[in-house]
Amino acid sequence: MLNSVGLQGPGVEAWLEHDLPPLVATGARVVVSIWGRTVEDYRRAADLLADAPPMVVAVEVNLSCPNVEDRRSMFAHSASATEEVLVATAGCGRPRWAKLSPNVTDLVEIAEAARRGGAEAVTLVNTVMGMAIDVQTRTYSLGAGGGGLSGTAVHPVAVRAVHDVAAALPGLAIVGVGGVARGEDAAELLLAGAAAVQVGTATFADPRAPARVLEGLRTWAGRQRMASVSELVGAVHRQVGDPELEDTEATR
Ligand SMILES: Cc1cc2nc3c(=O)[nH]c(=O)nc-3n(C[C@H](O)[C@H](O)[C@H](O)COP(=O)(O)O)c2cc1C
Repeated sequence: MLNSVGLQGPGVEAWLEHDLPPLVATGARVVVSIWGRTVEDYRRAADLLADAPPMVVAVEVNLSCPNVEDRRSMFAHSASATEEVLVATAGCGRPRWAKLSPNVTDLVEIAEAARRGGAEAVTLVNTVMGMAIDVQTRTYSLGAGGGGLSGTAVHPVAVRAVHDVAAALPGLAIVGVGGVARGEDAAELLLAGAAAVQVGTATFADPRAPARVLEGLRTWAGRQRMASVSELVGAVHRQVGDPELEDTEATR
């Protein structure tokens, strides 16, 4: 999928008043995603969540947003801006997951900055920057020009990001996301080092995709006679004889 829907939302206050109560009524644990255009925006959003009920177990800080104070570059493209935003969001008083962009030269550096700023976990990855051009009209297919690529095509990008951050920063929890549509896709992210997995684009084709992925993972794990899928987490890094990947263009 290539999208440019932007970041919509009713705002934290309206969300707390109208959207959260029905979620809480389901008994589900809730992770709330916040974003901003300035560090102050993030701080305000986080502070407004300080009194949220305990079912709000974590706050995901989406850093893939233009920083209007820094020539419109994205927060997630800068280690210092990422750290600054994480520090500013401590007021929510619950674990924060830094949602990072794969569109960077050194994702490990950004993940490290998020951890320094107080992130308990990183969510990897947001969409990959893409574009489509309509050859008939000779203009952009999406109104905004570029867009974010997601779904099956970005799954290997997510696996690589999770893998490399897990290898470099053991101990930092990772939530894997990108192109998960089947149980095996989730297993791949767990093997790369994710402790949890999210399902995004697949829900557009099938709103029950997360439940289907979970069921697929359960069936697959059962066939492997696995006691718990937690044994998968990071297992690829523990493989005996796993060759040090020479990071050349050829191996990429
Ligand atoms: C239509 C659409 C809207 C999205 N909106 C957000 C958003 O508001 N905040 C965010 O952190 N990520 C957003 N994402 C990114 C997804 O959460 C996810 O990181 C990415 O799409 C890769 O996962 P997937 O292939 O399972 O969708 C959006 C993705 C899509 C396709």
